[in-house]
Order: sequence, then C-alpha cells, then structure tokens
Amino acid sequence: MSLRITTLAERPEFASALWEMDHSWRVFMFNDPIADLFYPIAATDYADYVLVADDDAEPGRMVARACMIPFPARDDELPDDGWDGVIRQGWLARKLDRPLDAVSALEITVRKDLLGSGVSPAMVAGMREHAARLGFRELVAPVRPNQKHLEPHTPMTEYAFRPREDGLPHDAWLRVHVRAGGEIVKVAPRSMVIPGTLAEWREWTGLPFDRTGPVEVPGALSPVYCDVAQDHAVYIEPNVWVSHRLS
Ligand SMILES: CC(C)(COP(=O)(O)OP(=O)(O)OC[C@H]1O[C@@H](n2cnc3c(N)ncnc32)[C@H](O)[C@@H]1OP(=O)(O)O)[C@@H](O)C(=O)NCCC(=O)NCCS
Repeated sequence: MSLRITTLAERPEFASALWEMDHSWRVFMFNDPIADLFYPIAATDYADYVLVADDDAEPGRMVARACMIPFPARDDELPDDGWDGVIRQGWLARKLDRPLDAVSALEITVRKDLLGSGVSPAMVAGMREHAARLGFRELVAPVRPNQKHLEPHTPMTEYAFRPREDGLPHDAWLRVHVRAGGEIVKVAPRSMVIPGTLAEWREWTGLPFDRTGPVEVPGALSPVYCDVAQDHAVYIEPNVWVSHRLS
C-alpha cells in the first residue's frame, strides 16, 4: 500500500468522508460530552490538525484519519484529565485568544477492513512529521491502549508499564508509539468521562444495567460504574500519556 497522508486543509474534499469511514469504535465512546467541543468544528476550525490518508492505488477513498489539537502548554505535568483536558483547554484558549504552544494527538482511526495491516505506524509517523512542520518540539498523546479492554480490572498504572520480553510495551498500540520514538510518561486516570442514564447505557451497549456496582462493558478499558437507584452509570476511562520529542 502506498499511503498519501495530508492535512484536511490540503484536501478539503475529504471533509464529508471524515466521519463516514467504516471504523471499529464502540458506540459508547461517542458519548463523551467533551467531544462536542472538537468534532463538530474539526473540519472547519482544526483542518490543519486533521490528517487524512488514502492509498495511491485507490485515490479518494479514506484509509485512515488522525486528529490533533493545539492547547496551552503548562509548566507542570501533563493533565490527569488527558483527552478531555486538552480539548477543553485548547478550546478555551482559542476562544480567549491565549497562546496555543503545545499540541496533543486525539485519535488515529484506521478503516475497519484495514485493521491489522500495519497502517497505524505510518499514521503515527505522519502526525509526528506534521507537528514538527507546524513548529512544535513535542507531540503528546493520551493513548488508548488497544488491548487493555481484555483485562478491565487491571490498574492502568500496572498495565501501561508492563514490558514484553524484548522490553517493548506489552500493549500493541503503545508499542507502535514507542517504536515511533514515543516515551510513556504517566497515566491520565480520568482521560474521558462518559455519563449516561441507565436507558442510555442499555442503548449504547445492549447490556441490562440492572445491578448496582461495576459492570464489564466490551471495549471499555475499566469497569463502568452503575447505580440503579440513581438511574445513572459513569465510565471513567484511563489513558496513557506518551511524549514524542520531535527534532
Ligand atoms: C488503534 C489502531 C489505530 C491500531 O491500528 P491497527 O491497524 O489495529 O494496528 P496495526 O496493524 O498497525 O498494528 C499495530 C500493532 O498491533 C498489533 N495488532 C494488530 N492487530 C492486532 C490484533 N487483532 N490483536 C493483537 N495485536 C494486534 C500488530 O501486530 C502491531 O504490533 P507489532 O508491531 O508489535 O506487531 C486501530 O486499531 C483503530 O483504528 N482502533 C479504533 C480507534 C482507536 O482506538 N484509536 C486509538 C485511539 S488513541
């Protein structure tokens, strides 16, 4: 496959296909309210921070997308509220005309029929190159380890730093980031927060949500907390901060 990776600003014709691409995201993941501050305006206001990829053999058909957002740098640590935090801070700083001197990755999504075909390292490399081109010296990423859902009860602090025999991360998606030059920094314990009524959670997952306590939801990285008497359930997703130093 010969990938062509550009920004959406360079190829605006991809704007309509951007969210239509067949993907493997779980439905509940679309219900983080903070997403509403980014996705509806990604194609218009953040077109320089969205990458689209197609294959030379099939030009115009999306293979993958990647989204980033500029946000105000902080002197101290990367925020505990990871994905939500950079969107909220980035959005607010833009509204208040404050400096946007850091950049965070938000997602890479590979077309469903191409999963496991090795597209993702090219997208990570594409993000690194683009962030460097924009003048940033570091790209940070609140990474969603793609095999963590297999062991939702393991604390992310243990999982994120678990090595394989060759010293690379146990998790395949973290491995891609580390191979690309990323360094695992810390866990973002409340990177995404997805609240819903029990009716909403039933609709999103097809599960009964009829018992108070932790619920294992397919695709979730940690248990979802359900309270039947209060008629709500909350998912707090931990992610892993990875820092890519750029030359
Ligand atoms: C995360 C994502 C971009 C990774 O892309 P991918 O096409 O699945 O992965 P790749 O084929 O590029 O392979 C990456 C690594 O995962 C491994 N891998 C791929 N499919 C796998 C599977 N089904 N089971 C286990 N490992 C797998 C590969 O072997 C490779 O590891 P290696 O280089 O050490 O061998 C893709 O799964 C995706 O779009 N997921 C949904 C959206 C998402 O969660 N994005 C990330 C948000 S931060």
